[in-house]
Amino acid sequence: MSTDITTQFSVEEIKESKINQVDFETLVFGQVFTDHMFECDYIDGEWQTPTIKPYQPILVEPSLKVFHYGQAVFEGMKAYKDNAGEVWMFRPDQNQVRINKSAKRLAIPEFPKEWFFEALDRLLVLDDAWIKKGKGNVVYIRPFVIATENAIMAAPSTQYKFMIILSPVKSYFRGDVSVVFAEHYSRSADGGVGAAKAAGNYAGQFYPTNLAKEKGYEQVIWTDSNEHKYLEEAGTMNAFFRINDTLLTAPTSDRILDGVTRKSVLDIAKHLGMQVEVRKITVSEVVEAAKDGSLKEIFGAGTAVVISPVKSFSYQGIDYPIEKQKNSYAIKLKEYITDIQYNKIDDPFGWRYKVGVDKY
Ligand code: COI
Repeated sequence: MSTDITTQFSVEEIKESKINQVDFETLVFGQVFTDHMFECDYIDGEWQTPTIKPYQPILVEPSLKVFHYGQAVFEGMKAYKDNAGEVWMFRPDQNQVRINKSAKRLAIPEFPKEWFFEALDRLLVLDDAWIKKGKGNVVYIRPFVIATENAIMAAPSTQYKFMIILSPVKSYFRGDVSVVFAEHYSRSADGGVGAAKAAGNYAGQFYPTNLAKEKGYEQVIWTDSNEHKYLEEAGTMNAFFRINDTLLTAPTSDRILDGVTRKSVLDIAKHLGMQVEVRKITVSEVVEAAKDGSLKEIFGAGTAVVISPVKSFSYQGIDYPIEKQKNSYAIKLKEYITDIQYNKIDDPFGWRYKVGVDKY
C-alpha cells in the first residue's frame, strides 16, 4: 500500500480492486461503490490534507452533530466514457459553485474550488475501470459535507468532513414514471432551504412520497407551500411541461433547486428552436390542458434521472394519462444532452470537462 503525497494530496491506492465482484448489467442505482474515496476534514478553522484512500467505513461517535441536526449538503454529478476511452464530466463548475452555495445556507464552510476539481480528477483516474463505455453506463459522483463535531449543542459544528464517493450506475427509474401533484405536504417554503442541496430536503419528502407510492405513484410533483397552486419540482428532478409546442418550467426560487440539467435543457431547447417559457405554472392550467388534449408531455430533468418522461399524473384523486408523442421533446432533449455528455457531438456550449491528472 503506497502513500504518495502529490501536490498537497495524500493518495493511498487499493491493493486489489473489488471490480470483479460487480455485475455491471444488474446495477441498482447507488448500491455499489468504487475502490477509492476522497476525504478532507475541517478542523480548527481550516481544511486539512485532502486524502484519497480505499473506500472504507468511517469511524464516528454517536454525538456527531450531523446525526442530531442534519447539517449536511451534497451534490450529484456523473462521469462518462466516450468510445475512445476518454472520461468526461458535464458542467462540474456548476456543482462546485452550488455545493458551496448550499454549504453557506447550512452554515458550513466553503470547500476550496481547486481541491474539488483535483479530488474529482484523481478519483476518476484511479477508478477509471469502473466507468464503462457507452450511453447508459456511467459513474455517479456524490460529493457531500457533514458536520463532524462531537457535540449536541444546537449550533453550527466546528468540524466537518468533505467526502466524495463514486457509484457505477445505469438508469435511475425503470421506465416512465407516474406522479401525483402535491395537495397537502410541501417540500420547501419561502425563506427555507429548498434551493440548497441539503440532506434534510430529501428526508422530508420520504414520508409523503411513500404515501404516493402506496397508491401506485412513483414521485410527487411539489406545489408551492402557500396555496398548492403552482407546480414546482419533483425532489429528485426539476419538472417540465409541454403544452402544445411550448416547453414550460418554473423559475428557480427559494423553494426550487437550480438544477444543472434543468438549465442545460432550457439552453438546448432554445438551441433546437423549441419555444420555451420559464414562468409560474398553475396546477389548473395543466389539468385543463390534460382535459383538452393540449398537454403533450411532462418530464423530469436531473443529474441522476437525466430526462425522465412522466406517463400520468394524479390530482384530486383523478388520474390523467399522458399519451406518448411521436415527436417527443423529452426524447430529443435526452438524446442531445447525452450526446454532449458522451462526447458524441460538438459541444457548442463548452459544457464538457475532460478528466485527467496531467494538470496537477
Ligand atoms: C441528482 O440528480 O444527482 C440528485 O441529487 C437526485 C438524487 C437524490 C438521487
